[in-house]
Amino acid sequence: MDSGHRPKVLHTKEEIAATVRRLAGEIRRDYRDKHPLVLGVLKGSFIFLADLIRLLDFPLEVDFVRLASYGRGRESSGKVKVVQGLRTPIKGRHVLVVEDIVDTGLTTACLLDYLRRKRPASLRLCALTDKPSRRKTPVDIDYLGFTVPDRFLVGYGLDWGEKYRNLPEICFLEDE
Ligand code: PRP
Repeated sequence: MDSGHRPKVLHTKEEIAATVRRLAGEIRRDYRDKHPLVLGVLKGSFIFLADLIRLLDFPLEVDFVRLASYGRGRESSGKVKVVQGLRTPIKGRHVLVVEDIVDTGLTTACLLDYLRRKRPASLRLCALTDKPSRRKTPVDIDYLGFTVPDRFLVGYGLDWGEKYRNLPEICFLEDE
């Protein structure tokens, strides 16, 4: 690989599928009659969200916002920018935010503040992975897939400089 790193599997396809099924079960229980707006955070959540909503057998809507917190490479810039804002009105709606990873928490905290100002009926967070060792600001995760170690993760939507999103497993990058 030209990155000088190689992906090693942290969570297999089977582990991911079982975890997504578990999360879908929890979400189904809470949202079955609520016609929620499932709000994906681009780009990283798109694969997780696509798998998750296909297991939710009740009416829902989907929209996306795009935030950017990382530059190219492994380190966070520490700045969060709303690149594409919300298009669906959410006042009085039940909103479920879907994230691929909560790392420092800065992106999610910024997004939740942005959404809360629009006065949804409820606002919850589903995150596939959580890296609590890196947290800089507190974030409550209502539906959590995996707690992950402080390694740079790629695959299943997660990228390194826009690479590796297409890997079917969740991997960490190991120096070659
Ligand atoms: C990643 C991820 C989260 C955010 C988490 O997005 O999808 O949104 O970083 O990091 P934080 O908790 O430290 O704020 P990224 O900005 O890399 O964009 P991407 O989803 O397009 O890859």
